[in-house]
Amino acid sequence: MRATRESGQPSSAYEPPPSASNYGRPPSQIDPDPEKKWWQRVIPLLVARKWPFIGALSFSFLSLVLQVLVPNLLNQALDRSIQTHSVPLHHYVELIIAIGIVGGIAGFLARWLLFRSAYDFEFDLRNLIYEHLSLMSFSFYDRTQSGQLISRANSDIRSVQMYATFAPQIIIQCAIGLIAFIFMLSIDIPLALIAMATMPILFWTGVRMRNAMFPISWIIQARLAEVATITDENINGVRVVKSFAQEQKEINTLADASSGVSWAYIKDADYRARFTPILQNLPQVGLALVLVFGGIMVIQGKVGIGAILAFNAYLLMLQAPFMMLGMLIMMGQRAAASADRIFEIMDERPDIVEKPGAYDLENPAGLVNFRNVSFSYNENQPILKDFDLTIEAGETVALVGRTGSGKSTVARLLLRFYDVQDGSVSIDGHDVRDATMTSLRANVGVVLDDSFLFSISIADNIAYGRPDASRAAVEAAAKAAHAHDFITALPEGYDTVVGERGYTLSGGQRQRLSIARSLLLNPPILILDDATSAIDVKIEQEIHGAFVTLLKSRTTLIVAHRLSTISLASRVALIDGGRIIATGHHEDLLRDVPEYGEVLAQVEASVIPTTRGGEA
Ligand SMILES: Nc1ncnc2c1ncn2[C@@H]1O[C@H](COP(=O)(O)OP(=O)(O)O)[C@@H](O)[C@H]1O
Ligand SMILES: [Mg+2]
Repeated sequence: MRATRESGQPSSAYEPPPSASNYGRPPSQIDPDPEKKWWQRVIPLLVARKWPFIGALSFSFLSLVLQVLVPNLLNQALDRSIQTHSVPLHHYVELIIAIGIVGGIAGFLARWLLFRSAYDFEFDLRNLIYEHLSLMSFSFYDRTQSGQLISRANSDIRSVQMYATFAPQIIIQCAIGLIAFIFMLSIDIPLALIAMATMPILFWTGVRMRNAMFPISWIIQARLAEVATITDENINGVRVVKSFAQEQKEINTLADASSGVSWAYIKDADYRARFTPILQNLPQVGLALVLVFGGIMVIQGKVGIGAILAFNAYLLMLQAPFMMLGMLIMMGQRAAASADRIFEIMDERPDIVEKPGAYDLENPAGLVNFRNVSFSYNENQPILKDFDLTIEAGETVALVGRTGSGKSTVARLLLRFYDVQDGSVSIDGHDVRDATMTSLRANVGVVLDDSFLFSISIADNIAYGRPDASRAAVEAAAKAAHAHDFITALPEGYDTVVGERGYTLSGGQRQRLSIARSLLLNPPILILDDATSAIDVKIEQEIHGAFVTLLKSRTTLIVAHRLSTISLASRVALIDGGRIIATGHHEDLLRDVPEYGEVLAQVEASVIPTTRGGEA
């Protein structure tokens, strides 16, 4: 098989795609139980990478413990070495320097490991979301805005990551604060209580701040997602915007959305400006209290002067945990909201899933059967009803019908982009729902009217479904699709990188590339959904011969309205009212079925202006 492929002749047999991915797959999944709390659900991700995380927490604990020791040593040094000379001063100096060095190294390792686990966590979560998105069915993308997905994959992941990795760190800091408080109590109990007098106010202010700011942070997230959606649509739809001269309207829409964002940010800054100075300066009040009461106690000889210095240092040390405790709660609520938004997507099950025990469709002859198919996108609007159609292996059938009659829907059902609600679609007698998704889609090739190309080279675009195809095979497919000549005329030939979505090429050129892309897969079943509509009549006549040879060797469903394309088919099926109302040869239908003539006339009328371009 491989040998024939390398000789440039693509083989038609299905081969399972290489499954080894070359990125670091997330070592774990999130907990699938939606009843659990959000942080319980992300624990498996943390556990999977526990060592750097545990290391980070241990080192940060060590570095904080060392920090807490210093003011106490300072207190002792002042009392025992400077005032009473009972211990040599250099003893304390050396100890404090040693603590500084070890604490510094521990601090470095703690941060390094913490950021590492934070970004590993983020990486895993993001990959899980993208893996999940790639499993989701078309119906999901029909109703989901891309801006929403982008913002969930970016800022929501970030806020969950921040909390999941920094919360334990803050909890350690608070624990250290407790140790500092115990040290203060051990120096002098009344003074310790006086020093702590402002802490409840500090905590309460922190809580008020987050109560005020939390809804705002939510609004910011939602509005950023809105701006992302508008921006995304404007960039992707720039050609439509410009051709209808709606730039100003779009600018206004975006300005409205971004003024919503800036309103929320200003509100946020407003609260910050109001609360942060209180939070930062309250501890000074505590220091003043220590100076007053401590000073009196020193004068009365109840405590040593070192106690005031140590208390000063401890109060500064305690300030952070108390402020952070408020922040921790705020971050927690924000992370909970973000996690909900992420899980909302992650908990959504794809509608189209492979059955357990699905088998590979191998070398099908290509007999296609739609039997009694009923289908609707949304419940109250049936698209297909009792739809029956058989295409013999190797046969070419043209599906003809009015716009919106469900022709593309028929193609999507054969590819299992959607599942039928009733009846069945089968290939060689095997229901498409029993086959593996990869084998089904490898055996059914499709060329759509809207041919999406990637911003990669032309050769890579053609080889998209078979990245290991040789250049000879790519060129053979391009020649068959009559694309070779225009490709070689480009300055860089097959290595020309096409612009965003292929807009540097004409519609007809894009369509020929996407025909080549499907031909390279050489599928036993091929669907051409309006695939020749953008190719002008003259070129279509040129490739007509090539098409005839191509279609000879496979089952083909052509959705077409041009007579020249319809003439490629040995049989025409006329779809109307969700069913096939007649099948037969073009001439017979034209003679016997009045609707056929009407549909062709109608379609012709709507098509002529586009094919004749300037004359319309
Ligand atoms: N993703 C979708 N969600 C909801 N309705 C859809 C979707 N795609 C198509 N439809 C509707 O289904 C009908 C048939 O569409 P389609 O099969 O694309 O028609 P055709 O290809 O014959 O022009 C149309 O009325 C269309 O509005
Ligand atoms: Mg269509």
